[in-house]
Amino acid sequence: MSTVVIEIRQANAADAPAVAAAHDEAWRAAYQGIIPGVELDKLINRRGADWWESAIRKGSRISLLAFGNNIAGYANYGRNRARSLYYDGEIYELYLRPEYQGVGFGRRLFTAARRDLLQSGMKSLVVWALSDNEPAVEFYRALGGRAVARSSERFGTRVLDKVAYGWNS
Ligand SMILES: CC(C)(COP(=O)(O)OP(=O)(O)OC[C@H]1O[C@@H](n2cnc3c(N)ncnc32)[C@H](O)[C@@H]1OP(=O)(O)O)[C@@H](O)C(=O)NCCC(=O)NCCS
Repeated sequence: MSTVVIEIRQANAADAPAVAAAHDEAWRAAYQGIIPGVELDKLINRRGADWWESAIRKGSRISLLAFGNNIAGYANYGRNRARSLYYDGEIYELYLRPEYQGVGFGRRLFTAARRDLLQSGMKSLVVWALSDNEPAVEFYRALGGRAVARSSERFGTRVLDKVAYGWNS
């Protein structure tokens, strides 16, 4: 019998190619049919291994969920970027490769990111999701997030609504 170790840890520069691959796979699966194809390709191509390596070296907080030797997904997070929202921290992205979704890993990554923010004094937290990304919306609701703001973002010719979910300490 073999045992697979599941751990959440900070990304290091050597993880950059695996994070880029997880990002590519998760974004294609999540946004196909929502973000126009050409724009989705641009967003993904911009985030190759070099981009991730540079972000990691600059000290961006990127947590990985490692399933054995595989990177199942990642979360990156830090200070809340929207000044109009009174939340301390923000999870910028939380993505799992499709084959690792639906087994509790998203909750584990979210909890780890939230704890890390809390340890840096950021007690409240916000996350943005596209309204059309129903699995993400359901996920943040299941985790107790409250819809606290709405906005929109342009992707080429399409303008998509997005919603912010908030958590207080
Ligand atoms: C959204 C995502 C991060 C959720 O992670 P996950 O590992 O699949 O979710 P979990 O298994 O940890 O589920 C946690 C809770 O959310 C609920 N949930 C998750 N996905 C759901 C869905 N599609 N519909 C309804 N509820 C859902 C689960 O039922 C669970 O609730 P419970 O703990 O009360 O039983 C993951 O599916 C993913 O990466 N999706 C694609 C990328 C994406 O959209 N990222 C978010 C961008 S803002």
